[in-house]
Amino acid sequence: MPPRKIIIDTDPGQDDAVAILLALASPEELEVLGITAVAGNVPLPLTQRNARMVCELANRRDIPVFAGCDTPLERTLVTAEHVHGKTGLDGPDLPDPTMPLQDQHAVDFIIDTLRAADPGTVTLCPLGPLTNIATAFTRAPDIVSRVQEIVLMGGAYFEVGNITPTAEFNIYVDPQAADIVFKSGAQLTVMPLDVTHQALVTTPRNDAFRALGTPVGIAVAQMTDFFERFDKEKYGSEGAPLHDPCVTAYLIRPDLFKGRHVNVEIETTSPLTLGMTVADWWGVTNRAPNATFMGSLDADGYFALLTERLARL
Ligand code: BDR
Ligand code: CA
Repeated sequence: MPPRKIIIDTDPGQDDAVAILLALASPEELEVLGITAVAGNVPLPLTQRNARMVCELANRRDIPVFAGCDTPLERTLVTAEHVHGKTGLDGPDLPDPTMPLQDQHAVDFIIDTLRAADPGTVTLCPLGPLTNIATAFTRAPDIVSRVQEIVLMGGAYFEVGNITPTAEFNIYVDPQAADIVFKSGAQLTVMPLDVTHQALVTTPRNDAFRALGTPVGIAVAQMTDFFERFDKEKYGSEGAPLHDPCVTAYLIRPDLFKGRHVNVEIETTSPLTLGMTVADWWGVTNRAPNATFMGSLDADGYFALLTERLARL
């Protein structure tokens, strides 16, 4: 089978960086057509810069990186420097990128790529707020039916929220965009906190990254060392969740994940529960299923895959 064509839409973010590295390390399964940056963990000038730094870390200056939307559709941008540090990619000491940022806007790249490709051959991989994807769908509704699948990190059901008591960060930052994407009719696969909180970077797992002894292995270990201080303290867990690589890992090894095809709606107005992903996990409504919402992960298999693939870079 030829590799699956993907666009990674991202707000790096240390865990976004690992998701990108995993994709770039897996050319048999994944062909990265481009990386589109969005404002999220940190503002857009930093996320597009970080995306280029990650490509250079992987020695892939040929990957086109595009800057997209710098603010959510209707709300003021909320960022997460308290988790990811001032740059969004605190931890390793990576050089400033020298590869260029593409002139084209990320949203135009998404639209043009979907229109140019055969229908059903391009998968979108959002790892941050859904602003770029929703903007593309609103501006060019014809592309929705051309998407093969959207595999995204966002939301939560059993784990409820991480940025508010009821909302996960990516959905909370731009709930209106999430609402557009979840109602779009595109085939959706969701990696919520329910799954990503099983992907804990314990000390032995991070030591395995470091032990690769390569610039990539060492940088990934340093990224994790940085961002895990926050989550370990918050959750009292033995390591931080490595959220976003669940998306690219799923495209390589779907057998590592289990979930249910259910209805998922986004809360867009309530001040108390804004950005909540209301997943009908137990099938108590007659609302039509619109997403495969993952619930469990083979964490050992996930980290074995990550370590094996990162070793190739
Ligand atoms: C998500 O929010 C960001 O901080 C991470 O990169 C991940 O995409 C987890 O809630
Ligand atoms: Ca992210």
